[in-house]
Amino acid sequence: MSTASLTDRRLVAHVDRLAVEHPPIDLDSVDFSVRRPDLLAARYGHVLDYMARVELEVDRNVLELTTMLPDPPEVDRYFYADVWQPQEIQHGLILDRLQVELGRPPAVTDLDTVSAKLEVLGRLAHLGAFQDVVRMLYYLTGMATERSAVLAYNLLYDGVVELGEDAVAQTVVAPIRRQEPGHYAFYQLSARGLWSELAGWQKWLVRQLRRRSFGPVGTNNAEQRADFGDVMITLGIADDSDRFAVQVARVEQELLWAHASGLPVPPYVLAAFRDAVEAARTR
Ligand SMILES: [Fe+2]
Ligand SMILES: [Fe+2]
Repeated sequence: MSTASLTDRRLVAHVDRLAVEHPPIDLDSVDFSVRRPDLLAARYGHVLDYMARVELEVDRNVLELTTMLPDPPEVDRYFYADVWQPQEIQHGLILDRLQVELGRPPAVTDLDTVSAKLEVLGRLAHLGAFQDVVRMLYYLTGMATERSAVLAYNLLYDGVVELGEDAVAQTVVAPIRRQEPGHYAFYQLSARGLWSELAGWQKWLVRQLRRRSFGPVGTNNAEQRADFGDVMITLGIADDSDRFAVQVARVEQELLWAHASGLPVPPYVLAAFRDAVEAARTR
C-alpha cells in the first residue's frame, strides 16, 4: 500500500475514534455555578471572551475552508464537518454562556467574512497541485491553533482551580481541553503525510506563503493581536513568549525549516507572539 493511502486509512480511523470518544459537549452537562463571579470576571473575563470568539468563529472557518479547498480529500471534509465543527461550536457556546453568567456581554463574532486573499487562494486551488500547497497551509495553521488552545486551556484550568472555582474547572475547562489534542493529532498526521509527498516547488511555496501569513490564533487585525497579547499576559506567558512559540511551532519547524537552520522555532512565529505582547502593552 502507498504511503498516501496508509496515511489516509490512519486518518479515517483517527476521525472515527474522535467521533465515538468525543461527542460534542452537552450544555446541560455544565455546572455554571461560580463562587466569586466578580473576581473570576476581573481575572479571566477577557480570556473567556477571546476563547469564546475564536471557538464560535469555526463557522467562518468552515466557509473559509470550502473557499480555499474546492475539492478536498474526503477525510478532510469528514473531520471538519462531522467532528471538528460540532465540537468547537459547543466549546464556544459554553465559554460564551459562562462569561454572560459572569455579567459580561457575549462575544462579538465574525461568522461570515471570507477575506479576499483566501478567495484568491481558492481560485488558484482549482489546480490540484496548488490545492496541495493550500492544504499544507491549512494543516500548519491547524497545528499551531490546536497546540495554542491546549497550552492556553491548561493555564486557564490551573488559574481557575487556584481561584477555587471547581465547577468551572471541572465542567467547563477540563472537558473542553480534553477535546483539543485529538484535533492537533489530526493536523499533525495530515501535515506529515502531505509534506512527504510535495514536490520541491510546492514546499518552497508553502514556506514563502507561511512566512508571510502566520498569525497567532484568532488574530485578523491589530486590535485582535493586542487582545491576544492581553490573553498571554493574563495566562503568564508574555514574558516567556519565545518558549510558547517553540511549543506551538515545533513540528512546523521540523518539517519546513530543519534543513535550513539550527533554530528551535521559525523567526516569524517568535516575532508574531512578541508583537502581540508588545501591542497589548502599548495599547
Ligand atoms: Fe475548541
Ligand atoms: Fe480544537
